[in-house]
Amino acid sequence: MTYKAAVITVSDRCSRGEQEDKSGPAVCEMLRGAGFEIAHACVVPDEAEEIAAAFRRCADELGCDLVVSSGGTGLSPRDVTPEATRAVIEREIPAIPQAMLFASLQKTPRAMLSRAAAGQRGKTLILNLPGSERAARENLEAVLDTLDHALKMMAGGGH
Ligand code: MTE
Repeated sequence: MTYKAAVITVSDRCSRGEQEDKSGPAVCEMLRGAGFEIAHACVVPDEAEEIAAAFRRCADELGCDLVVSSGGTGLSPRDVTPEATRAVIEREIPAIPQAMLFASLQKTPRAMLSRAAAGQRGKTLILNLPGSERAARENLEAVLDTLDHALKMMAGGGH
């Protein structure tokens, strides 16, 4: 079964064209490599309403099985991706970010500075990644193999 995914890059600078988006294409490439079809990719600024609207659109209108964001998970005043995520999910899945943290702490203690969240909105799994290309790759790598089973269970499938 081919799952449909969307990738949302959250970055003020990338949205203004002042910086190249490297994490979005990297996440797309990893998802394609894992068999996902990329139905949509976009860049939005660090504005909670715009981030939430992008999540809702990908889930409700485009019917994506998986929506992955990169960026805006840290501690700076403009980092609001986890809050925007919690505004649109119906059930949080805390262990997915915990698994990313566990793997990432083996790479850098700065991993503890990401507040990434994950959860379900209907049949869509929404997952936050940190914004640097390296951090996005390392975090996604930690959970990528398990997403297939998560999506199967969300669609009502058993083990
Ligand atoms: N996780 C991994 N695996 N590798 C990293 O280099 N960088 C950290 C953290 N998680 C990092 C990581 C840093 S420095 C920050 S500030 C946070 O992710 C949040 O990043 P964000 O604000 O771009 O989302």
